[in-house]
Amino acid sequence: MFDLSAHAVVLTGATSNIGRAVIRAYLAQGAHVAIAVRDQAKGEQVRADLGALAGTPADPLVMLLAADPGDRPAMERAVEQVLRAWGRLDVVANLVGGYAASDAAAGDLPAYRASWDQKVATAVTATTACLAPMRARGRGRVVSVSSLAALKGEKAAAGYAMANAALVRWTESLADELKREGVTANCVLPRIIDTPDNRLAMPKADPSRWATPDEIAALIVFLSSDEASGITGAAIPVVART
Ligand SMILES: NC(=O)c1ccc[n+]([C@@H]2O[C@H](COP(=O)([O-])OP(=O)(O)OC[C@H]3O[C@@H](n4cnc5c(N)ncnc54)[C@H](OP(=O)(O)O)[C@@H]3O)[C@@H](O)[C@H]2O)c1
Repeated sequence: MFDLSAHAVVLTGATSNIGRAVIRAYLAQGAHVAIAVRDQAKGEQVRADLGALAGTPADPLVMLLAADPGDRPAMERAVEQVLRAWGRLDVVANLVGGYAASDAAAGDLPAYRASWDQKVATAVTATTACLAPMRARGRGRVVSVSSLAALKGEKAAAGYAMANAALVRWTESLADELKREGVTANCVLPRIIDTPDNRLAMPKADPSRWATPDEIAALIVFLSSDEASGITGAAIPVVART
């Protein structure tokens, strides 16, 4: 599809439902992928599940970074680790997230803040830790998974919608600041993804209508490619067949 040979990707949310599909999609285009995880055992499992695709200890194609994406000093150390191993950093892909209900009428500020910390703080922290090497080379890609909820609030999803909208607005500002430096920043907006969690939560729904993890991964890889150089500040819905 797109040639990402030897490109170095820093990816957060690797342990998510879509994480493995996204890692495989990057590896299929020749990229090296460093996964920043807050739970090292889970990260080890992700790498183990990839088998030979993860490379060898002497030539790792998937590197584990013991770094919480929301922890700036830890992410800066992780970026140094990537630069020491692979000599470059081309892409940061932010997958961290998760749905939590919260009412608008209740004014539930702690819940709203929790959604903000989870979605916005992690993406901002991981991305800004990665920017220096990208700006120095005049080439970089920031791809963040937000949600279609960023475009319109719904009942009982106030904090979730606000956090996802904030990530889109921050991405637009970043894209505008970096538009002449070869660094693009974009968001992907899934509606519902076909995950085991969603199948369990919506047993009567038809999952063939939902976006597959591979469909989400394909767009993330495209936005990470040289061919996507003209796209920045975009928030691209992936509604699939819903
Ligand atoms: N599933 C959907 O239908 C859907 C729809 C629209 C948008 N999205 C977005 O798509 C992305 C992937 O969704 P998913 O369903 O595959 O996710 P998921 O399975 O719920 O996984 C969530 C991921 O985020 C990490 N995470 C959660 N809170 C964190 C925090 N405070 N700090 C650091 N890491 C944290 C988790 O790490 P641990 O393993 O360490 O907990 C895990 O890797 C998310 O951003 C989600 O918001 C999903």
